[in-house]
Amino acid sequence: MPMPPLSFKPDAFSQRRERLMAEVGEDAIVAICAAPMRLRNGDTPYPYRQDSDFLYLTGLCEPEAVLVLTPGHAHEVTLFLRPRDPERERWDGHRLGLEGAREVLGIEHALDIAQLDQVLPKLMMGRQALYYLMGQNAGFEQHLNDLRSELQHEASAASGPTTVLSLQPLLHEQRLIKSPEEIRWMRKAGQISAEGMMHAMYAAPTAINEAELHAALLNCYTRHQTVPAYQPIVAGGERALVLHYIDNNQALTDEDLVLIDAGCELMGYAADISRTFPKNGRFSAAQKALYEIVLEAQTQAIEQVRLGQSYHDFHAKATEVLSQGLLDLGLLTGSLDEVLETESYRRFYMHKTGHWLGLDVHDVGDYRIDDEWRVLERNMVVTVEPGLYIENADDLPEAFRGIGIRIEDDIRVTRDDPENLTSAVPKDISDIENIMR
Ligand code: GLY
Ligand code: MN
Ligand code: MN
Repeated sequence: MPMPPLSFKPDAFSQRRERLMAEVGEDAIVAICAAPMRLRNGDTPYPYRQDSDFLYLTGLCEPEAVLVLTPGHAHEVTLFLRPRDPERERWDGHRLGLEGAREVLGIEHALDIAQLDQVLPKLMMGRQALYYLMGQNAGFEQHLNDLRSELQHEASAASGPTTVLSLQPLLHEQRLIKSPEEIRWMRKAGQISAEGMMHAMYAAPTAINEAELHAALLNCYTRHQTVPAYQPIVAGGERALVLHYIDNNQALTDEDLVLIDAGCELMGYAADISRTFPKNGRFSAAQKALYEIVLEAQTQAIEQVRLGQSYHDFHAKATEVLSQGLLDLGLLTGSLDEVLETESYRRFYMHKTGHWLGLDVHDVGDYRIDDEWRVLERNMVVTVEPGLYIENADDLPEAFRGIGIRIEDDIRVTRDDPENLTSAVPKDISDIENIMR
């Protein structure tokens, strides 16, 4: 991943580790593994992307590394990583190395990854519980449990952990609330992504294929030394009805709406924006009618992203506004209560209105606590992304058939009004028409 070794002051990472250690307690050991390098085909790797949890706790962007936390131990933090190797670095690029881990990451106890099997059992000794990311990396999980079993078979008084526990709940609860530094990176990711979206809008009137708009996004992300946070969706016309369309290679026609869902990743942090606009820069009457409903749903839903509201409230608001709009246009029948009760709106709106956003585009953290939708807290970040997808079916008014619209912004919960991290890209009809002129 194109990222300098450190996106935050080392203190930020040590504070995260300390908080986690306080939570697991001195009976416990935590082990977490870097993401492996993955091959795309033959001997050609995919661009490297660090595991988000590992990145959150270390700032290190290299494979073949393991972080071990042993609260109360003389070395509470041990990082195993690859040593410097001029021969390998000639081929694969710079490695931080042990000295670098001390100097750049501020982790004093940095050891060669080749020493893991020798040292880790000693760190496990006398600890009751072993925490790791369950279900994340089967090979590492197996390895940890093999080391644990070996210790137990030695049957000494100070044998290894008897319990294994999932690290996800503790760590992911921490990741859900963003620090001021994290918010700063997310704001910047939002700005760059907004710029990319505007470049795609400028390119649309003369573009003949979706691929040109995709290229405009990538050009902008790359110039800012970022990568796409996920595979962009550039969907002209009816392709917008395919929620996860990523081919981005079909011809555009003049009267198409184009739905783009794209965001970059900066320092590991994702932005996630959707805009829908007319290829030729002018909305038709039918496109306008549907678009205004989605925009109103999004505007009202964003107003619900406030301290003390539940995660469900903004979805409920979006659903209500969309449903009323569909009734007004005659696309649904019955009363609003009936539509909401029977969920008949789902024919045209089949996804949720948002998700947590952070190091992962669909970020970690529980949405419900004890079977209740959780209450929004300051510095949580959610997307708000209502849409309408009108299939090409004979029973629907012809003018609306084949239109797909989604509008998505990234919203931070503040003490006051919601903060829109992606407000730099227009979404009012007149603003879109103006910038595309
Ligand atoms: N881009 C993925 C999403 O909007 O959830
Ligand atoms: Mn999206
Ligand atoms: Mn999203």
